[in-house]
Amino acid sequence: MLIDSFGRRITYLRISVTDRCNSRCVYCMPLAGVPWKSHDEILRYEEIAEIVRVVAAEGVRAVRLTGGEPLVRPNLPELVGMLAAIPGIEDISLTTNGLLLEQQAEDLVKAGLKRINVSLDTMQPELFRRITRVGSIERVMRGLEAAEKCGLTPIKINMVVMRGINEDEIIPMARLSISRPWHVRFIELMPLGNQQPWGDGFPLPETMYYPIREIRAQLETLGLEPVLDKSGNGPAVEYHLHGAQGRVGMIAALGEAFCDTCNRLRLTADGYLRPCLMSAEEINLKEALRSGQPILPLIQQAVDVKPLGHELASRPAPEGRCMLQIGG
Ligand code: 5AD
Ligand code: SF4
Repeated sequence: MLIDSFGRRITYLRISVTDRCNSRCVYCMPLAGVPWKSHDEILRYEEIAEIVRVVAAEGVRAVRLTGGEPLVRPNLPELVGMLAAIPGIEDISLTTNGLLLEQQAEDLVKAGLKRINVSLDTMQPELFRRITRVGSIERVMRGLEAAEKCGLTPIKINMVVMRGINEDEIIPMARLSISRPWHVRFIELMPLGNQQPWGDGFPLPETMYYPIREIRAQLETLGLEPVLDKSGNGPAVEYHLHGAQGRVGMIAALGEAFCDTCNRLRLTADGYLRPCLMSAEEINLKEALRSGQPILPLIQQAVDVKPLGHELASRPAPEGRCMLQIGG
Protein backbone atom coordinates (compact mmCIF):
# COMPACT_ATOMS: atom_id res chain seq x y z
CA MET A 1 0.00 0.00 0.00
CA LEU A 2 1.15 3.51 -0.79
CA ILE A 3 -0.05 5.73 2.05
CA ASP A 4 1.39 9.19 2.48
CA SER A 5 2.35 10.92 5.69
CA PHE A 6 -1.13 12.45 5.94
CA GLY A 7 -2.91 9.12 5.61
CA ARG A 8 -3.94 9.56 1.98
CA ARG A 9 -3.95 6.35 -0.07
CA ILE A 10 -2.36 6.60 -3.50
CA THR A 11 -4.54 4.67 -5.94
CA TYR A 12 -4.20 6.71 -9.10
CA LEU A 13 -1.27 7.47 -11.41
CA ARG A 14 -1.33 10.09 -14.14
CA ILE A 15 1.16 9.22 -16.85
CA SER A 16 2.40 11.79 -19.31
CA VAL A 17 3.43 9.81 -22.39
CA THR A 18 4.92 12.73 -24.31
CA ASP A 19 5.70 16.40 -23.84
CA ARG A 20 4.83 17.08 -27.48
CA CYS A 21 1.54 18.50 -28.63
CA ASN A 22 -0.16 19.21 -31.93
CA SER A 23 -1.93 22.19 -30.38
CA ARG A 24 -0.62 25.26 -28.54
CA CYS A 25 -3.26 26.31 -25.99
CA VAL A 26 -2.60 29.77 -24.57
CA TYR A 27 -2.90 28.71 -20.91
CA CYS A 28 -0.73 25.66 -21.34
CA MET A 29 2.10 26.53 -23.68
CA PRO A 30 4.18 29.72 -23.67
CA LEU A 31 3.84 31.84 -26.82
CA ALA A 32 7.45 31.08 -27.76
CA GLY A 33 6.86 27.34 -27.41
CA VAL A 34 8.95 24.92 -25.37
CA PRO A 35 11.86 22.77 -26.57
CA TRP A 36 10.78 19.13 -26.97
CA LYS A 37 12.60 16.41 -25.11
CA SER A 38 14.60 14.06 -27.31
CA HIS A 39 13.31 10.52 -27.85
CA ASP A 40 15.87 8.86 -25.60
CA GLU A 41 14.92 11.17 -22.72
CA ILE A 42 11.33 9.90 -22.88
CA LEU A 43 10.36 6.66 -21.18
CA ARG A 44 9.81 3.72 -23.52
CA TYR A 45 6.49 1.87 -23.28
CA GLU A 46 8.23 -1.07 -21.57
CA GLU A 47 9.58 1.30 -18.94
CA ILE A 48 6.17 2.87 -18.31
CA ALA A 49 4.63 -0.60 -18.00
CA GLU A 50 7.33 -1.63 -15.53
CA ILE A 51 6.54 1.36 -13.31
CA VAL A 52 2.82 0.62 -13.51
CA ARG A 53 3.44 -3.02 -12.57
CA VAL A 54 5.28 -1.88 -9.45
CA VAL A 55 2.64 0.65 -8.36
CA ALA A 56 -0.24 -1.70 -9.20
CA ALA A 57 1.25 -4.25 -6.81
CA GLU A 58 1.10 -1.48 -4.18
CA GLY A 59 -2.56 -0.65 -4.69
CA VAL A 60 -2.75 1.72 -7.65
CA ARG A 61 -5.96 0.80 -9.51
CA ALA A 62 -6.40 3.53 -12.11
CA VAL A 63 -4.12 5.21 -14.62
CA ARG A 64 -4.72 8.16 -16.89
CA LEU A 65 -2.63 8.88 -19.97
CA THR A 66 -1.87 12.53 -20.58
CA GLY A 67 0.66 14.58 -22.52
CA GLY A 68 1.45 17.05 -24.08
CA GLU A 69 -1.05 15.38 -26.32
CA PRO A 70 -0.95 11.63 -25.76
CA LEU A 71 -2.31 10.75 -29.20
CA VAL A 72 0.72 12.22 -30.97
CA ARG A 73 2.88 9.46 -29.53
CA PRO A 74 3.06 6.64 -32.10
CA ASN A 75 1.15 3.42 -31.34
CA LEU A 76 -0.52 4.57 -28.14
CA PRO A 77 -2.98 1.63 -28.32
CA GLU A 78 0.03 -0.64 -27.81
CA LEU A 79 0.73 1.01 -24.44
CA VAL A 80 -2.95 0.86 -23.50
CA GLY A 81 -2.91 -2.88 -24.20
CA MET A 82 0.21 -3.37 -22.10
CA LEU A 83 -1.30 -1.49 -19.17
CA ALA A 84 -4.67 -3.22 -19.46
CA ALA A 85 -2.89 -6.56 -19.01
CA ILE A 86 -1.33 -5.57 -15.67
CA PRO A 87 -3.04 -7.24 -12.70
CA GLY A 88 -4.71 -4.68 -10.44
CA ILE A 89 -5.24 -2.01 -13.11
CA GLU A 90 -9.00 -1.61 -13.35
CA ASP A 91 -9.38 1.68 -15.13
CA ILE A 92 -7.47 3.28 -18.00
CA SER A 93 -8.48 6.72 -19.16
CA LEU A 94 -7.06 9.39 -21.44
CA THR A 95 -7.00 13.18 -21.50
CA THR A 96 -6.79 14.46 -25.06
CA ASN A 97 -7.33 17.56 -27.16
CA GLY A 98 -9.41 15.40 -29.50
CA LEU A 99 -7.64 16.39 -32.70
CA LEU A 100 -6.54 12.82 -33.49
CA LEU A 101 -9.42 11.03 -31.83
CA GLU A 102 -11.38 10.34 -34.98
CA GLN A 103 -8.55 8.20 -36.37
CA GLN A 104 -7.64 6.47 -33.12
CA ALA A 105 -10.78 6.00 -31.01
CA GLU A 106 -11.59 2.50 -32.23
CA ASP A 107 -8.07 1.09 -31.78
CA LEU A 108 -7.84 2.61 -28.32
CA VAL A 109 -11.08 0.97 -27.23
CA LYS A 110 -9.99 -2.39 -28.65
CA ALA A 111 -6.79 -2.09 -26.62
CA GLY A 112 -8.70 -1.52 -23.39
CA LEU A 113 -9.25 2.22 -23.01
CA LYS A 114 -12.37 2.91 -20.95
CA ARG A 115 -12.98 6.65 -20.87
CA ILE A 116 -11.74 9.95 -22.23
CA ASN A 117 -11.63 13.59 -21.22
CA VAL A 118 -11.54 16.06 -24.08
CA SER A 119 -10.41 19.68 -23.70
CA LEU A 120 -12.96 22.07 -25.17
CA ASP A 121 -13.04 25.63 -23.87
CA THR A 122 -15.55 27.13 -26.28
CA MET A 123 -18.07 26.13 -28.94
CA GLN A 124 -17.19 29.12 -31.11
CA PRO A 125 -14.84 28.13 -33.94
CA GLU A 126 -12.98 31.44 -34.04
CA LEU A 127 -12.42 31.63 -30.31
CA PHE A 128 -11.41 27.97 -30.33
CA ARG A 129 -8.74 28.83 -32.87
CA ARG A 130 -7.51 31.76 -30.77
CA ILE A 131 -7.31 29.72 -27.56
CA THR A 132 -5.60 26.74 -29.16
CA ARG A 133 -3.63 28.95 -31.60
CA VAL A 134 -3.77 26.16 -34.22
CA GLY A 135 -6.65 23.80 -33.47
CA SER A 136 -9.79 23.06 -35.49
CA ILE A 137 -13.03 22.64 -33.59
CA GLU A 138 -14.54 20.65 -36.46
CA ARG A 139 -11.88 17.98 -36.01
CA VAL A 140 -12.54 17.82 -32.27
CA MET A 141 -16.27 17.43 -32.89
CA ARG A 142 -15.62 14.57 -35.31
CA GLY A 143 -13.35 13.03 -32.68
CA LEU A 144 -16.07 13.29 -30.06
CA GLU A 145 -18.55 11.65 -32.39
CA ALA A 146 -16.16 8.77 -33.07
CA ALA A 147 -15.50 8.35 -29.35
CA GLU A 148 -19.21 8.22 -28.61
CA LYS A 149 -19.78 5.63 -31.34
CA CYS A 150 -17.23 3.24 -29.92
CA GLY A 151 -18.46 3.51 -26.37
CA LEU A 152 -15.83 5.64 -24.66
CA THR A 153 -18.38 6.81 -22.11
CA PRO A 154 -19.02 8.89 -20.18
CA ILE A 155 -17.27 11.47 -22.32
CA LYS A 156 -16.00 14.30 -20.16
CA ILE A 157 -15.41 17.76 -21.53
CA ASN A 158 -12.83 19.97 -19.80
CA MET A 159 -13.43 23.70 -20.05
CA VAL A 160 -10.83 26.04 -18.57
CA VAL A 161 -12.72 29.20 -17.62
CA MET A 162 -10.98 32.52 -18.35
CA ARG A 163 -12.40 35.91 -17.39
CA GLY A 164 -13.09 38.08 -20.39
CA ILE A 165 -12.60 35.13 -22.76
CA ASN A 166 -15.17 32.40 -22.27
CA GLU A 167 -17.05 32.91 -19.00
CA ASP A 168 -20.12 33.77 -21.07
CA GLU A 169 -20.08 30.19 -22.35
CA ILE A 170 -20.40 28.53 -18.95
CA ILE A 171 -24.18 28.27 -19.33
CA PRO A 172 -24.27 27.09 -22.97
CA MET A 173 -21.49 24.59 -22.30
CA ALA A 174 -23.32 23.32 -19.20
CA ARG A 175 -26.41 22.80 -21.35
CA LEU A 176 -24.41 20.35 -23.48
CA SER A 177 -24.91 17.95 -20.56
CA ILE A 178 -28.65 18.13 -21.29
CA SER A 179 -28.52 17.66 -25.04
CA ARG A 180 -25.84 14.95 -24.84
CA PRO A 181 -24.78 12.36 -22.25
CA TRP A 182 -21.59 14.32 -21.60
CA HIS A 183 -20.05 15.44 -18.34
CA VAL A 184 -19.03 19.06 -18.74
CA ARG A 185 -16.42 20.15 -16.22
CA PHE A 186 -15.41 23.70 -15.43
CA ILE A 187 -11.80 24.15 -14.41
CA GLU A 188 -10.22 27.11 -12.67
CA LEU A 189 -7.28 28.56 -14.57
CA MET A 190 -4.09 27.56 -12.81
CA PRO A 191 -1.00 29.80 -12.80
CA LEU A 192 1.50 27.18 -13.94
CA GLY A 193 4.18 28.34 -16.37
CA ASN A 194 1.66 30.64 -18.07
CA GLN A 195 2.20 34.01 -16.41
CA GLN A 196 3.91 35.60 -19.43
CA PRO A 197 1.67 37.48 -21.91
CA TRP A 198 -0.28 35.11 -24.18
CA GLY A 199 -0.21 37.37 -27.26
CA ASP A 200 -3.07 37.88 -29.75
CA GLY A 201 -4.85 40.51 -27.67
CA PHE A 202 -5.33 38.32 -24.57
CA PRO A 203 -5.58 40.25 -21.29
CA LEU A 204 -2.82 39.91 -18.70
CA PRO A 205 -2.75 36.32 -17.40
CA GLU A 206 -3.28 37.30 -13.77
CA THR A 207 -6.53 39.10 -14.64
CA MET A 208 -8.14 36.05 -16.25
CA TYR A 209 -8.57 33.92 -13.14
CA TYR A 210 -12.28 33.22 -12.73
CA PRO A 211 -13.00 31.70 -9.33
CA ILE A 212 -15.10 28.62 -8.76
CA ARG A 213 -17.46 30.74 -6.65
CA GLU A 214 -18.48 32.69 -9.75
CA ILE A 215 -18.68 29.54 -11.88
CA ARG A 216 -21.00 27.98 -9.31
CA ALA A 217 -23.13 31.12 -9.14
CA GLN A 218 -23.68 30.93 -12.90
CA LEU A 219 -24.51 27.22 -12.81
CA GLU A 220 -26.91 27.65 -9.93
CA THR A 221 -29.17 29.70 -12.17
CA LEU A 222 -29.75 26.45 -14.10
CA GLY A 223 -30.69 24.48 -10.97
CA LEU A 224 -28.08 22.06 -9.62
CA GLU A 225 -29.16 18.64 -8.36
CA PRO A 226 -26.61 16.73 -6.28
CA VAL A 227 -25.08 13.55 -7.70
CA LEU A 228 -24.80 10.61 -5.35
CA ASP A 229 -22.45 8.27 -7.21
CA LYS A 230 -19.37 10.34 -7.98
CA SER A 231 -17.71 9.31 -11.26
CA GLY A 232 -14.00 8.86 -11.87
CA ASN A 233 -11.01 9.29 -9.58
CA GLY A 234 -10.60 13.02 -9.55
CA PRO A 235 -11.46 16.12 -7.58
CA ALA A 236 -14.51 17.25 -9.57
CA VAL A 237 -17.59 18.17 -7.56
CA GLU A 238 -20.49 16.89 -9.67
CA TYR A 239 -24.13 17.85 -10.21
CA HIS A 240 -27.00 17.13 -12.60
CA LEU A 241 -28.87 19.85 -14.37
CA HIS A 242 -32.59 19.18 -14.30
CA GLY A 243 -33.48 16.66 -17.01
CA ALA A 244 -29.85 16.12 -18.03
CA GLN A 245 -28.40 12.82 -19.26
CA GLY A 246 -24.90 14.00 -18.39
CA ARG A 247 -23.45 16.00 -15.52
CA VAL A 248 -21.69 19.21 -14.77
CA GLY A 249 -18.57 19.24 -12.62
CA MET A 250 -16.37 21.88 -11.06
CA ILE A 251 -12.66 21.59 -10.50
CA ALA A 252 -11.22 24.27 -8.27
CA ALA A 253 -7.49 24.07 -7.85
CA LEU A 254 -7.24 27.40 -6.07
CA GLY A 255 -10.66 28.52 -4.90
CA GLU A 256 -11.64 25.42 -2.92
CA ALA A 257 -8.52 23.30 -2.78
CA PHE A 258 -9.21 19.56 -2.67
CA CYS A 259 -5.76 18.50 -1.51
CA ASP A 260 -7.06 16.64 1.55
CA THR A 261 -8.48 13.87 -0.65
CA CYS A 262 -5.65 13.78 -3.18
CA ASN A 263 -5.05 10.18 -4.28
CA ARG A 264 -2.49 10.60 -7.02
CA LEU A 265 1.06 10.75 -8.24
CA ARG A 266 2.19 12.02 -11.63
CA LEU A 267 4.80 10.50 -13.91
CA THR A 268 6.37 12.90 -16.39
CA ALA A 269 7.22 11.76 -19.91
CA ASP A 270 10.92 11.95 -19.07
CA GLY A 271 10.57 9.67 -16.10
CA TYR A 272 10.21 11.82 -13.00
CA LEU A 273 7.61 11.21 -10.32
CA ARG A 274 5.92 14.38 -9.25
CA PRO A 275 4.15 14.08 -5.89
CA CYS A 276 2.11 17.27 -6.37
CA LEU A 277 1.10 19.17 -9.51
CA MET A 278 1.66 22.47 -7.75
CA SER A 279 5.03 21.75 -6.20
CA ALA A 280 8.30 21.62 -8.16
CA GLU A 281 9.53 18.59 -6.19
CA GLU A 282 10.37 15.60 -8.43
CA ILE A 283 11.98 12.20 -8.08
CA ASN A 284 14.04 10.69 -10.86
CA LEU A 285 12.74 7.19 -11.59
CA LYS A 286 14.26 6.88 -15.04
CA GLU A 287 17.83 6.84 -13.81
CA ALA A 288 17.13 4.00 -11.38
CA LEU A 289 15.09 2.12 -13.96
CA ARG A 290 17.82 2.37 -16.60
CA SER A 291 20.58 1.33 -14.24
CA GLY A 292 18.69 -1.67 -12.93
CA GLN A 293 18.10 -0.26 -9.44
CA PRO A 294 14.87 -1.04 -7.58
CA ILE A 295 12.28 1.72 -8.06
CA LEU A 296 9.86 0.94 -5.24
CA PRO A 297 11.98 2.80 -2.62
CA LEU A 298 11.92 5.89 -4.84
CA ILE A 299 8.16 5.60 -5.34
CA GLN A 300 7.76 5.30 -1.59
CA GLN A 301 9.96 8.39 -1.20
CA ALA A 302 7.71 10.33 -3.59
CA VAL A 303 4.71 9.29 -1.52
CA ASP A 304 6.46 10.28 1.69
CA VAL A 305 7.31 13.80 0.50
CA LYS A 306 3.85 14.42 -0.94
CA PRO A 307 2.84 17.77 0.56
CA LEU A 308 -0.41 18.22 2.44
CA GLY A 309 -1.46 20.93 0.04
CA HIS A 310 -0.27 23.81 -2.05
CA GLU A 311 -0.05 27.46 -1.14
CA LEU A 312 -0.71 28.91 -4.55
CA ALA A 313 -3.15 31.42 -3.18
CA SER A 314 -0.42 32.98 -1.01
CA ARG A 315 2.78 32.09 -2.86
CA PRO A 316 3.98 32.33 -6.44
CA ALA A 317 3.58 29.24 -8.60
CA PRO A 318 6.55 26.88 -8.85
CA GLU A 319 9.14 27.60 -11.50
CA GLY A 320 10.18 24.86 -13.86
CA ARG A 321 7.83 22.77 -15.93
CA CYS A 322 4.80 24.25 -17.62
CA MET A 323 1.55 22.25 -17.81
CA LEU A 324 2.54 20.67 -21.10
CA GLN A 325 5.58 19.12 -19.41
CA ILE A 326 3.58 17.71 -16.50
CA GLY A 327 0.37 16.57 -18.12
CA GLY A 328 -2.25 18.46 -16.15
N1 5AD B 1 -5.13 25.72 -15.88
C1 5AD B 1 -6.17 24.86 -15.86
N2 5AD B 1 -6.28 23.82 -16.69
C2 5AD B 1 -5.30 23.63 -17.57
N3 5AD B 1 -5.13 22.68 -18.52
C3 5AD B 1 -3.96 22.91 -19.14
N4 5AD B 1 -3.36 23.99 -18.63
C4 5AD B 1 -4.18 24.47 -17.66
C5 5AD B 1 -4.13 25.55 -16.75
N5 5AD B 1 -3.09 26.40 -16.74
C6 5AD B 1 -6.10 21.63 -18.77
C7 5AD B 1 -6.37 21.38 -20.22
C8 5AD B 1 -6.67 19.92 -20.26
C9 5AD B 1 -6.10 19.34 -19.00
C10 5AD B 1 -5.01 18.37 -19.24
O1 5AD B 1 -5.57 20.43 -18.27
O2 5AD B 1 -7.46 22.11 -20.70
O3 5AD B 1 -8.04 19.66 -20.31
FE1 SF4 C 1 -1.73 20.70 -26.02
FE2 SF4 C 1 -3.51 20.08 -24.15
FE3 SF4 C 1 -1.67 21.90 -23.63
FE4 SF4 C 1 -3.60 22.45 -25.35
S1 SF4 C 1 -3.85 22.01 -23.14
S2 SF4 C 1 -1.41 22.86 -25.69
S3 SF4 C 1 -3.93 20.53 -26.33
S4 SF4 C 1 -1.30 19.76 -24.03
